[in-house]
Amino acid sequence: MRRILARLALASLMLTLCGCGTSPTPTIRVGVALYQQEDTFISTVAQSLQQRALEEEQARDVKINLSVADGRGSQTQQNEQVDRFLDQKYDVICVNIVDRTAAAVIIDKAQAAGVPVIFFNRQPVEEDLSRWDGAYYVGSPGAQAGELQGQIVLEAWQQDPAALDRSGDGVVQYVMLEGEAGHQDALLRTKYSVLALTEAGVPVEKLANDTADWQRGQAGIHMTQWLKEFGDQIEVVFANNDDMALGAIDACLAAELDPLPFVVGVDATPPALEAVEEGTLQGTVLNDAQGQAREMLDLACDLAEGTAPQVEGGHYVWLEYSAVTRKTLDAASAGAGNQSE
Ligand code: GAL
Repeated sequence: MRRILARLALASLMLTLCGCGTSPTPTIRVGVALYQQEDTFISTVAQSLQQRALEEEQARDVKINLSVADGRGSQTQQNEQVDRFLDQKYDVICVNIVDRTAAAVIIDKAQAAGVPVIFFNRQPVEEDLSRWDGAYYVGSPGAQAGELQGQIVLEAWQQDPAALDRSGDGVVQYVMLEGEAGHQDALLRTKYSVLALTEAGVPVEKLANDTADWQRGQAGIHMTQWLKEFGDQIEVVFANNDDMALGAIDACLAAELDPLPFVVGVDATPPALEAVEEGTLQGTVLNDAQGQAREMLDLACDLAEGTAPQVEGGHYVWLEYSAVTRKTLDAASAGAGNQSE
């Protein structure tokens, strides 16, 4: 009998030492559906999500299982991926929807499965998002990106109108490279960038505009064509994102245009920041991928843990944009230098 008791005591001591008796770390399973993984900015958001998941794991003492699916630009394919996440009982799904008018189907399925859904970057129409309390949107207000882009051009005009208005006719001639048709960022950035100039009383003339699907190659093709038509009459190139701005610069360099037109983008991707440093890109607007990833995972973990999150209008989390020019980069690096001294 004494031997049996001794063995039981030893077994319980071993259980305590190896921690096998304690409850396992809870796991939060998050399914992420991307509209197109190849998209430069979206791939940055995906990387930021992976990074942020590691930080949240530490902070909340949980395990986060992040599963990423690439919709490759097809809503049908994305719907299947979402169905799979719901069938496999993920705790939360994050959807970068391919077609922003198709959100109702996803919201209804998520509601039926009782799985909260966080849309990001591609904003569903408001009526759809308000169908269910468990539907959210994390993103940045497209109008603000347009305004900041316009202000970069406006500031250059105010400082030295002659440098911008090369023809000297008192009017800013511009071309507009747009993202996808119907995308909220494309529509709003296009409108508000120009409005920032006209509202300040700067006369403008649009020479051409076209959609280049956020892509550098397509933007290069449009710009090559426009350079043939308008040559150095093009004073400003507004691009709805940096990849397209870089495509326009590629075309100008290939055509040996000197000086280059005043080109502005949005996103602040690493190659765009290099171009700002080099002086080929005059400015961009920071689209806060890290902030969006942070807010999404915070929200996802709160929802999975059953905490009711307080967000704007019950559905929206907004991240601010900020302007980036050679001046702000220089000021930031001077600030960093001061801190390290
Ligand atoms: C925009 C971004 C673009 C592209 C697009 C995809 O916010 O500026 O570069 O990623 O989202 O939806």
